[in-house]
Amino acid sequence: MTALAPSPEHINAMAERLRAAGLVAFPTETVYGLGALASDARAVANVFAIKGRPQFNPLIAHVASTEAAFRLGAEDAPLAGLGPRLADAFWPGPLTLVLRRTLESDAVADLAAAGLDTVAVRVPSHPVALALLDAVDAPVVGPSANRSGRVSPTTAEHVVSEFGDAVPVLDGGPCDVGLESTIVGLIGDVPVLLRPGAITREALAEVLGRPVSVGTPTAHPPQPGDGPLAPGQLASHYAPNAAVILDVAPSATHPAYLAFGATEPPTGLVKDCINLSPSGDLSEAASRLYCALRELDATEPDVIAVAPIPHDGLGAAINDRLQRAAAPRTT
Ligand code: TXA
Ligand code: MG
Repeated sequence: MTALAPSPEHINAMAERLRAAGLVAFPTETVYGLGALASDARAVANVFAIKGRPQFNPLIAHVASTEAAFRLGAEDAPLAGLGPRLADAFWPGPLTLVLRRTLESDAVADLAAAGLDTVAVRVPSHPVALALLDAVDAPVVGPSANRSGRVSPTTAEHVVSEFGDAVPVLDGGPCDVGLESTIVGLIGDVPVLLRPGAITREALAEVLGRPVSVGTPTAHPPQPGDGPLAPGQLASHYAPNAAVILDVAPSATHPAYLAFGATEPPTGLVKDCINLSPSGDLSEAASRLYCALRELDATEPDVIAVAPIPHDGLGAAINDRLQRAAAPRTT
């Protein structure tokens, strides 16, 4: 019974389960999320436990509307107005804003925010996610529904293969975007891109009418005990079992190959080849990336070799995920 059709009855039952501090996996346009009531520290603790996720890595609070999002936090004063501007342009959608946490807000447990005085919020556009959030009528944390450090799920089946019967999954079909949301920090005095995603740095800059820096905001250097500002974003992440090597041409040495674009390996050169997008379309490649990594991994190769993928536009996010998948493993 783990994968459930997203009927109104199932959505209401899953909303009830969330309100009773249970866990529910749900589809979003980016990847599947592992939902828990954000205000309930026990439920949030269960999310960390089942994912094997370090508790210094905070979670995103998902809500059904922009108004609900800005009840949880606001951009710092030097960036006044930029939060609503991004929200108008991109919500509901694959954008997460890191805001200064509203002091009196107990709708997000300290554990969910990893004790930070900031909070990550997102209004997803997937209709099943929105219907679920609407029915719960409270913020729901939603890390990607995979064990920490592994490949994110883009189908209900992927989630079932991660958690089996332990977590019911609302099945909303394959995710359109296929990569986690773009994260923008509105803390300090410059907007900062903390995780690249489908909403590109260029698109953000256009809406904001100013450039967007990348990485750690200079106005808000990490404090001792802060954890990284985009925690979980460095070192090994999104990793299949196989090692991953990037920017390589197909060769007989590497039987598992992830191709991109018109140049296919000659027949018989590699044993298992998946082309992310024969036409060279980056959106298509993003939406197929995690599924392809899982499929190639299932052939149990030592190494998955990956073709060069352009870095422009959505290519920045694809290369970001691939670099982390290829990073030295910490365990
Ligand atoms: O697309 C997505 O964002 C998906 C779907 C399910 O919504 N969720 C997702 O969650 O990717 P997760 O937990 O896998 O990634 C959340 C990222 C982490 O890298 C975390 O460090 C960062 O958001 N984050 C959360 N709160 C933060 C904060 N206050 N400051 C900086 N980074 C934060
Ligand atoms: Mg994740």
